[in-house]
Amino acid sequence: MGTVISVVNQKGGVGKTTTTVNLGAAIAERGKKVLLIDIDAQSNLTTHLGLGLKEDPQDLQDVPRQVPEWTIYDVLKGSKRLQDVVIKRSATLDVVPSSLLLSAADLELGGMVGRELLLKRAIEKVKDSYDVILIDCPPTLGLLSLNALAAVDKVIVPVQSEYLALHGVRQLLDTIDQVRGIYNPSLIVGGVLICLHDSRKRLARAVADTIRAYFGQLVFTTVIRENVALAEAPAKGQTIFEYMPKSSGAEDYTALAEEVLYVKA
Ligand SMILES: Nc1ncnc2c1ncn2[C@@H]1O[C@H](COP(=O)(O)OP(=O)(O)OP(=O)(O)O)[C@@H](O)[C@H]1O
Ligand SMILES: [Mg+2]
Repeated sequence: MGTVISVVNQKGGVGKTTTTVNLGAAIAERGKKVLLIDIDAQSNLTTHLGLGLKEDPQDLQDVPRQVPEWTIYDVLKGSKRLQDVVIKRSATLDVVPSSLLLSAADLELGGMVGRELLLKRAIEKVKDSYDVILIDCPPTLGLLSLNALAAVDKVIVPVQSEYLALHGVRQLLDTIDQVRGIYNPSLIVGGVLICLHDSRKRLARAVADTIRAYFGQLVFTTVIRENVALAEAPAKGQTIFEYMPKSSGAEDYTALAEEVLYVKA
């Protein structure tokens, strides 16, 4: 049965989507069957993987993009099954796209019974078909993130080695504790991942030391270095392995995949 992992931090721009896409792609490169689920209304993972958005004007698109008919929005609303909205990206990499419509999800789904367990129920039916399922979360701790936390075996928390890196982390850990207590007793923190790291900056090194002192063994040995190719790949609709397989970004996410699969498994 597959391992389900959420990439979560309510702090914005810390590398959640970049990590979900490229960790997933690195694991898929190793021949494992991977499903990536986008539950962020920003739909950055969806567009990063080369898909378009129905609600977005087509003439704003940088590269030709397949526009999915159905998305995770339809699944959470109960009108589609998860397996019906899956898009095959490669032999081993599948995607469940998101929609800009998800921005009203907290309001639209808020009144439903079992509203925190919608994603868990949807994933249960496909779990056996994958080795790893990764969920890209929005930068909030609202209903969608609660759904992600309730649905997974573990979480990966990306943090940026910058000032205020740990701002809000206590709140995130408290939320994880609450979800564990109410919906998901076996939920674990799989690891804290230092992202967007510039080792030439003294401040970045100091913050990375603070993160390691605070979280100890929970911090991945692999650090994701700042790498411009990682920031360029989304505009091409490509993973780092398609866009620049020899970059430091590809190297770092390959190392992270090894660590996730074989060390912190
Ligand atoms: N290691 C890296 N090196 C260079 N740029 C990066 C790296 N990781 C992420 N980025 C860039 O930084 C920005 C934020 O990254 P990303 O979108 O992955 O963060 P996020 O946590 O998903 O953001 P949000 O909270 O908005 O969902 C993006 O433009 C991304 O391309
Ligand atoms: Mg994101």
